[in-house]
Amino acid sequence: MTDTGRPSAELIYALRRVTESAACAAFDWIGRGKSKEGDQAAVQAMRAALMQVDLDGTVVIGEGEKDDAPQLFNGERVGRPDAAFKADIAVDPVEGTSYLAKGLTNALAVIAVAPRGSMMDPGPAFYMEKFAAPPAAKGKIDPAWPTARKLEALAACLDKDVAALTVFVLEKPRHRQLVEEIHGTGARVALYPAGDVAGALLAAIPQSGIDALMGTGGTPEGIMSACAIRALGGEFVGRIDPQLQTEAQAVEVAGLDTSRWYQRDELVTSENAFFCATGITTGLMLEGVERSKDHTRVQTLMIVGCTKERQVLTSYLPPEPAVQQQIARDVA
Ligand code: FBP
Repeated sequence: MTDTGRPSAELIYALRRVTESAACAAFDWIGRGKSKEGDQAAVQAMRAALMQVDLDGTVVIGEGEKDDAPQLFNGERVGRPDAAFKADIAVDPVEGTSYLAKGLTNALAVIAVAPRGSMMDPGPAFYMEKFAAPPAAKGKIDPAWPTARKLEALAACLDKDVAALTVFVLEKPRHRQLVEEIHGTGARVALYPAGDVAGALLAAIPQSGIDALMGTGGTPEGIMSACAIRALGGEFVGRIDPQLQTEAQAVEVAGLDTSRWYQRDELVTSENAFFCATGITTGLMLEGVERSKDHTRVQTLMIVGCTKERQVLTSYLPPEPAVQQQIARDVA
């Protein structure tokens, strides 16, 4: 914490322990077909680690208020009540639970932290249409334009041919037409069944191999992505896009405008945001957890809003025999 009461950039090193803990706990459940158990292990580990961090946090985006999610629920206070830094917290202990259960690539443990009151509370809005792109495209593309026009404008911003663009899209039936439209322009589509936080971040990082993210995914994931992308200087905009009838009704009752595109800096209104993601399984962005008898190796992406720094840290943690014995008991 700095003298001015603003969080210091060093907080990121404490937060990295939070996602590392979740990733290590989830590691034990990779490929066991038990997404709920894996998620629960990651939630518990993340919460325990979060309690050690010097911040007074309120979970704004958590595991929901359902009875079967008793930890890291929306509204829960975490950290230390006497800490000077009052924060909003968004967590996804396992981003890509299906990847985890199936033993596939790309599962991440994710946290975003920002000064209290600065993160949008998505209320009942579960789904959001998103557009993410590198810094060169910031403010230059209207997300309401037709797909072909957006990609032509993006290609011009990036000084590339449209055919050289690659767009990350979640592989969902709702995106069939979008994929056809992208293919119609000659651009490539990188289709992944889950994990659009990684897709959004890669879109915002120049030369990552992904030039844009398009399509509809989770609203919580969108807000976490906005925290990271604001620091990266990239483009991120989102429009509430309910996919379920009950969700659409709740969104209407809440008075949320589904035609409005929220700008990145509306989704997170402060520059002092922090973002950490640790690989659970190796993927597009990070290597996954590796455990040997000597150590557990984890890789974490750390992004600090106030310094605009992005760092990838590989840590070698001491072995965790107790965890291994516990999992052996649990799956027996
Ligand atoms: P989980 O961590 O809940 O498995 O979410 C993964 C994810 O693919 C997100 O990356 C994405 O935003 C969202 O689910 C899309 O939801 P849906 O799979 O219901 O379309």
